[in-house]
Amino acid sequence: MTSSDSMASGSNAKAQIELHKELAPRYAYRYSFEFSRLFQQDWHAEMIGQVPAGATRILDLGCGTGFFLAELCEHHPGAVGLDISHEMLRVSDQYVSEARLVTGDAERLPFRPACFDAVFCKGSLHHTRDHVAFLTHCRKALGEEGVLIMSEPCNDNPFIRLARAILYAKSPHFDVGDQGFTKKGIVGLCEQAGFEVTRVWRYGIFAYVFAGFPDHLGILRFIPGNAWITRLFIGLDRVLCAIPGLSLLGFHVLVVARPRAK
Ligand SMILES: C[S@@+](CC[C@H](N)C(=O)[O-])C[C@H]1O[C@@H](n2cnc3c(N)ncnc32)[C@H](O)[C@@H]1O
Repeated sequence: MTSSDSMASGSNAKAQIELHKELAPRYAYRYSFEFSRLFQQDWHAEMIGQVPAGATRILDLGCGTGFFLAELCEHHPGAVGLDISHEMLRVSDQYVSEARLVTGDAERLPFRPACFDAVFCKGSLHHTRDHVAFLTHCRKALGEEGVLIMSEPCNDNPFIRLARAILYAKSPHFDVGDQGFTKKGIVGLCEQAGFEVTRVWRYGIFAYVFAGFPDHLGILRFIPGNAWITRLFIGLDRVLCAIPGLSLLGFHVLVVARPRAK
């Protein structure tokens, strides 16, 4: 694990380091159940499936405990993970012990321009405050033919937005400033940062709620056949997210974007 010179200095960066110091063991617990791993693997496949043929230089920005990075490395050996939280990265040893890891701030990326073919952000953009700056760094890290593949909390549904606002305000496991995005809003941010969005869709309803976070909502742990129930939810979610109107139930928004030609 290397430590970047450009380590976090802002107050949000420090708050994120503190928050994730405490969250790191919870992530290990989250991914310790067969049913939650099944859901995460489906989510990962949805994202990894967007990597264009021939892409080899991969960055997982905000890789956390490396559970996603481990799968990325299976498909793309040598993928790099960066996270601001050293405590989160330390957990990654159990999933991907040989990974190339960097402790650093996504808002001050310590990489040369155009040195990646694909940059992934799974739930990290909303932890930062200057979203356009974050995305501009992603664009600079990508080659002209590169691709950004993101999944972030979706707030298009007013009920989901309200539930999140209450949870984030009340629970010590969230930062009230880490709000989600509307589909239109995240597309606009990408465009401001010089990207052209090529695909955007919502993902995760029942499987997200019941299988995604056993550290917050653990009811499936006690139900026999929870892996089959999760498979059923994954299939149902996919159908619902494909139906205009009902896709508003999706808890995440996935984005594929390419640097706009100059
Ligand atoms: C919701 S977690 C997601 C972790 C991982 N991608 C996953 O799906 O398990 C968000 C991660 O973003 C990291 N993070 C927050 N702000 C960051 C920043 N400015 N630079 C790099 N990583 C950051 C946190 O430390 C945390 O590990």
